[in-house]
Amino acid sequence: MSNTGNTESATAQITIDPAFTVGPVRRRTFGSFVEHLGRCVYTGIFEPGHPSADEDGFRTDVLELTRELGVSTIRYPGGNFVSGYRWEDGVGPVEKRPVRLDLAWHTTDPNHVGVDEFAKWTVKAGVEPMMAVNLGTRGTQEALDLLEYCNIDGGTAFSDQRRANGAETGYGIKMWCLGNEMDGPWQIGHKNALEYGRLAADTARGMRMIEPDLELVACGSSSPGMDTFGEWERVVLTETYDLVDLVSAHQYFEDFGDLQEHLSAGHKMDQFIRDTVAHIDHVKSVKKSSKQVNISFDEWNVWHGSRAESKVPSGKDWPVAPVLLEDRYTVADAVVVGDLLITLLRNTDRVHSASLAQLVNVIAPIMTEPGGRAWKQTSFHPFALTSRHAAGTVLKVALESPSLNAGKIENFDALSAVATFDAETGEAVVFAVNRSVTDALTLDAAVAGLGNVRVVEAVTYANKDPYWQATADDSTSVLPTENPSAKLDGGRLTAELPAVSWSMIRLAVDA
Ligand code: AHR
Repeated sequence: MSNTGNTESATAQITIDPAFTVGPVRRRTFGSFVEHLGRCVYTGIFEPGHPSADEDGFRTDVLELTRELGVSTIRYPGGNFVSGYRWEDGVGPVEKRPVRLDLAWHTTDPNHVGVDEFAKWTVKAGVEPMMAVNLGTRGTQEALDLLEYCNIDGGTAFSDQRRANGAETGYGIKMWCLGNEMDGPWQIGHKNALEYGRLAADTARGMRMIEPDLELVACGSSSPGMDTFGEWERVVLTETYDLVDLVSAHQYFEDFGDLQEHLSAGHKMDQFIRDTVAHIDHVKSVKKSSKQVNISFDEWNVWHGSRAESKVPSGKDWPVAPVLLEDRYTVADAVVVGDLLITLLRNTDRVHSASLAQLVNVIAPIMTEPGGRAWKQTSFHPFALTSRHAAGTVLKVALESPSLNAGKIENFDALSAVATFDAETGEAVVFAVNRSVTDALTLDAAVAGLGNVRVVEAVTYANKDPYWQATADDSTSVLPTENPSAKLDGGRLTAELPAVSWSMIRLAVDA
């Protein structure tokens, strides 16, 4: 494929056969992230006085959209924020909580929301909490105290404090992040790999003494572009391999003006996952371990980080809940998000958890107006549809695609695709992205291995103007629409995929 705007579309082939599997569809792939950053918490999930606020001050319009988005695990409270956070500030009577400077985002946190409010919100949202501990300015003891506060039912100082604060039984939080992005020089309390690895190991050891079956996440690399990527994983995992279950990976993608390059994001994420797997398995092999550490891809998204939206306040200005990182997403950005989710699913054998960063207002699929409306960004749609319909098992699709070049990225597939098959419901679903900015692509899928199938639904998200963005006033004029080209003929499914598009085709397998 030569990015020439050819009218005759090229063809990409996949095979969908339930005999060839990658692994289960994991609900945790559809996680997200709530950080004390900008308006994610204050005027995002929490706004007492808002017309939709419930008795706890949570916006029910945001709760509804959160449920519709279909997110599973929510990481909290940061992010960079956690590396300077004292969790004790956020518990107890609200009027007695201290107001603190948040150094990470140069803002002021009134601490009106803390661990107890977050735990309550997760129950209302129907999501699993994933807690991060501060290994920047704090250490093992404070992490153990927080674990005791959250998970011990009662009879100890911290658990009784929680009970006195209104939560009779422990929250049973299973997933814990041992710090955040500790490889990054921007991180408060940034450490080298050995310093961090030893601290993470000590903390993990102590946490397992309280609760042996926690699922612990060691910090991996903040991006594949970090000079330390690889060596960081080697050293950290050498210290922690037997004590942790997952190592994190973070990656954001920005449109710097070359849309074709922006659309190579899924290919770049695939490479990052492959490299991280290699670094994990190197340590496993050196240690002759039979244990398998996997990946928690707990920050991923499109983030136009070099734009004005991400400029943090400075000087004497320490605002409460300012507008920060409120990126507006285009249809093309949403196609990238859909592709990244396809990539995470395709790697379900090694990516066991993931978090779209973030949930509300801050680089988010859900936006709010203080006192006003909540609305969906473009990126909401591919995420919600994938979360709703991907089920059962992820299949290996043996993809053969024309390739593309963009900037320094050579020979990446024009088609990104994954298929899932749910043996219980008899539904197979294909998720596909055409990454070309100029050419339509014909998807040609061999589906005979499924038996007799019929198309239940075929939708595509694309627009004549790929830079179209939703706003509070118009978030619905560009939505995923039916793709009438999806057809079955003699064991083959074909569909036309427009340039810069995300599609979902659902097939029912007749018994
Ligand atoms: O999600 C925004 C920020 O990106 C997080 O706080 C940090 O972990 C990452 O650098």
